[in-house]
Amino acid sequence: MAISKSVKNAMVAGNYIRKMFEEGIALKKIHGDANVYDLSIGNPVMEPPEAFNRELRQIVNHPWPGMHLQMEAAGYTATRTTIAAQLSQDTGLKFGLNDIVMAFGAAGAVNVVFKTLLNPGEEVISFTPNYFEYVHYAENHGGRVKYIASDKNLNPDLAALEAGITTSTRAVVINSPNNPTGHVYTAPTLKGIAEVVARRSAELKHRVYIISDDVYANLYFGQGKCPRMAQHYQHTIIVNSFSKDLSVPGERIGYIAVQAQCEDAGDIVKGLVYASQVLGFINPPAIMQNAIRNLQNASVDISIYRQKRDFLFKSLTEMGYAIVKPQGAFYMFPSSPNPDDEVFVKELKDLLVLTVPGHVFGAPGYFRLSYCTDDRVIEGSLKGFKQAIAKYK
Ligand SMILES: Cc1ncc(COP(=O)(O)O)c(C=O)c1O
Repeated sequence: MAISKSVKNAMVAGNYIRKMFEEGIALKKIHGDANVYDLSIGNPVMEPPEAFNRELRQIVNHPWPGMHLQMEAAGYTATRTTIAAQLSQDTGLKFGLNDIVMAFGAAGAVNVVFKTLLNPGEEVISFTPNYFEYVHYAENHGGRVKYIASDKNLNPDLAALEAGITTSTRAVVINSPNNPTGHVYTAPTLKGIAEVVARRSAELKHRVYIISDDVYANLYFGQGKCPRMAQHYQHTIIVNSFSKDLSVPGERIGYIAVQAQCEDAGDIVKGLVYASQVLGFINPPAIMQNAIRNLQNASVDISIYRQKRDFLFKSLTEMGYAIVKPQGAFYMFPSSPNPDDEVFVKELKDLLVLTVPGHVFGAPGYFRLSYCTDDRVIEGSLKGFKQAIAKYK
């Protein structure tokens, strides 16, 4: 066999969303584009803000010598400086140029952090429902993910976290606003997690880091800024990207941030740069590093996502779907009326509505829908959602 057993096995388990996406394309060929309602993939249809196009035009119209060459190993100094300034403003903490390492999107960033931290067999704890790729990313680097279930309000079970942290635990990864639920941890919830991790680290005399995947932090529907883990735990490693804020997931630009107070921050940053190099993730796209430099505060119009959330949440809950109201990102995670989420997702698919079963995110009994799509698709899907739930009433 040309491909390794591990890749073959992982491909079967791990490609669910892609598979759904491709099935959607096949269904569109049969039934016509307008009659298939694809809420399966989180690929935002919103165009980037005009400021992004302006920056790109500026770069293309005023090229400079060496603009396509390799740069400093951690990324352009000017870009890291503006990221550090914005992060300091957003969190009230102090970040400097040397605390930032540029990355190939958040996906690249998580891989680099896992490679840097994990010894063979060590664990990363993740609360389910979670972003399913963490499992594969940990395995890429000889580690594994230990799942801890969230409660019915999607908040972490702190007693289970306390019991789950051992000397094999290298880090706890959190993601708020969350994919697949859109749930946001409040400041007291973040503080609760931080206290448990700090206490267990002290008891075990073993530093456990928190990796805070903040990719949706700017897609927050609450008042003010989204609460951030780094504000509660100094040993937090932030991963972030511009994929969601600027609606440019195909451009692969993100970063990792480690505040100076984090234990062994200097070594970690050196490790991140080395890991980026040996993973082939050194020098994320130069044009993108320049394009986002002055766009730290720019974002797509979040009120559009909020309107889509409000419309879909109201429509589905009125039909009888049980959903914890999302406070950010562009996902919703209703309970599956059939306890077998795979069966229910298949029933929705037969009605030409594409979603993803909760078991893909470590949470059977639910299903995910991504509403970062056209209103036409969202509105058109309602008939199928209504028909699908009718037989369970
Ligand atoms: C929680 C989470 N983390 C990381 C990523 C990867 O983001 P990027 O496109 O920046 O690699 C995604 C993408 O959907 C995500 O949902």
